[in-house]
Amino acid sequence: MIRSFASFACVVAACMLASCGNSNNGTAADKPADTAAAVASALPDAKNFTDSLDGKTTGLFILKNRNGATAAITSYGARVVSLLVPGKNGEMTDVALGYDSVGKYIHQPETYFGAIVGRYGNRIGKGKFKLEGKEYKLATNNGPNHLHGGLKGFGAHVWDAKKVNDSTLELTYLSQDQEEGYPGNLQSKVTYTLLGDSTNCLKIEYEATTDKATVVNLTNHTYFNLNGQGSGTINNHLLQVNADKYTPVDSTLIPTGKIESVAGTPFDFRQPTAIGARIDSPNQQLKFGTGYDHNFVLNPNKGSGLNLAATVLGDQSGIFMEVLTNQPGIQFYGGNFMNGSNPLKGGKKDDHRTAFCLETQHFPDSPNEPSFPSTELKPGQQYKTTTVYRFSVKK
Ligand code: GLA
Repeated sequence: MIRSFASFACVVAACMLASCGNSNNGTAADKPADTAAAVASALPDAKNFTDSLDGKTTGLFILKNRNGATAAITSYGARVVSLLVPGKNGEMTDVALGYDSVGKYIHQPETYFGAIVGRYGNRIGKGKFKLEGKEYKLATNNGPNHLHGGLKGFGAHVWDAKKVNDSTLELTYLSQDQEEGYPGNLQSKVTYTLLGDSTNCLKIEYEATTDKATVVNLTNHTYFNLNGQGSGTINNHLLQVNADKYTPVDSTLIPTGKIESVAGTPFDFRQPTAIGARIDSPNQQLKFGTGYDHNFVLNPNKGSGLNLAATVLGDQSGIFMEVLTNQPGIQFYGGNFMNGSNPLKGGKKDDHRTAFCLETQHFPDSPNEPSFPSTELKPGQQYKTTTVYRFSVKK
C-alpha cells in the first residue's frame, strides 16, 4: 500500500523508537554460517586498503550488527566501501558502489564513491563568499564553481579511525586554516554506527568545531543501487521525497535563490514514483542537471527526532531505504555523469544512471544566499547533524 508523507510523518517518531532506536545491536556471532560466509566473500580484501598516504596509514574497518548486516568503511575519506543488507529472499545485497582497493579510490576518475564530503558539500558559486566582511576565495573545480570542498576535499584525506565496538567507528580529521581557501582550523568527527533490530540502520553523526568563523556543510556521498551495486539501471527504483519545494539552479547548477513548488513538475516525488518516469520530460531544470541533480527543501518535521526525508524501493530486491535527518535539504543525484569508466567491486561497472545519491545537506551556495538557512560556524559553537539510512524489505 502506498502511504502519503502526511500519514507517514505520524509514524516516524514511533518507528524511530521501534526501529534502530536502541543501542543493543548484539553481535553477528549467532548468524547462520552461510550468511556470514556470503558476507565475507562479498567484502573487499582489507589488505588492499592498507597504504601510506600523507604520513598516515589507511585501513578498512568492518562494522556488523546482530542481523549480520555489514558495513565496510575506509579511513581514506571516511568512506562507505560496502553496505550489505538483506533483500526480499534474505540474500545479503551490497547496496553501496565502491572500489576494491584504496588505490582505485585515489586514482580512478570518480572520486566521490561513499565519501564524506566537506568542508562544504555541493557547490559554492564562483568559489567565493563573504564572511564577517571578508571575502574568501576557494578552489574552483567544477567549471566556474567550487564543488564538494575543492581539489582535495575531506574525501581525499586520511582520517584517524577508532573502532569503538563491533558496530561503531569514529573518524576524526583536522582541516587546517586556509585548506582549499576556507578560514579556520576545523576539527571534524564522523561516527558511523550500524544498528540492528527489525530493520538495519547506518547512522552517521557529524560534528565539528572551529577556531575562526567559517562555513560547514558535511554530507555522505554514497552511490546506492538497492538491487545491488553494478546491477543495472536505478530508473525503476521508486523514490519518494518529503519536499513540497526545491531550489532550481542555473546552467552551472548554482541555485537561483528562488524556492519553487515541485507541483506539476518532474520534481514532484511526494508520492512514490519511478526515478526514470519523467527523466526525459522537456524541462529546463532537467536539461541543466542532465537529469536529476537538485536540492529538495525538506518539509518541516512534524514530530520529534529525525525527519523522514526520502524513501527508495529497489524494484528487484525489495530493499526499502528510508533516509532520516535533521538537515533542511537533500540533494538527489541520479548518476547522470556515470559512464562505465570506473571498475566497481566484483568486476561490476558504473554505467550511466546505475546509482543514485541522496545527500542530506544545507542548500548549495548558502554562503551567498542570505535567505537560505545559514551554514556559518563560529568559534565556541558546535556543528552537529545526524542522518540515518534505514533498510527493511517490502515483499
Ligand atoms: C553531486 C553533484 C553532482 C556531481 C556528483 C558527483 O551530487 O551535485 O553534480 O558532481 O556529486 O559526480
